[in-house]
Amino acid sequence: MSYTVSFVPLGDRVVCRGDETVLAAILRSGAKVMFACRGGGCGTCKMRLISGRVDHGRCSIAVLSDEAKREGAFLSCQARPLSDLTVELSPVNRYRPPSVEYWLSAARRVGAQRYRLDAGSDRADSYSI
Ligand code: FES
Repeated sequence: MSYTVSFVPLGDRVVCRGDETVLAAILRSGAKVMFACRGGGCGTCKMRLISGRVDHGRCSIAVLSDEAKREGAFLSCQARPLSDLTVELSPVNRYRPPSVEYWLSAARRVGAQRYRLDAGSDRADSYSI
């Protein structure tokens, strides 16, 4: 099963499979975001859930307390969606949408005779020009 993860305030969306982490879905979409250990131990990838439910996975209590979880914090490198999610990004997350180079690469995969930008199932949205 797949879920949509929507990012506030940018409005970007990615598709996240139920068996993958939110961070993996972001990176697969071509976007970039801050992370470090990918093991639930540093807290670099922490984000805040506005709506939806996640399985928090393995997290160090030192970087994600039960109280922080109740207030919506989650570690994107560990959390897997249990529903569609709305996630608040902060400047600390340093989220960058897919670059022009990423979209050109996606267009090249479609073929030189067509000018359709489409990242396939990796993104909740696609674009045609
Ligand atoms: S990247 Fe270190 S806890 Fe997620």
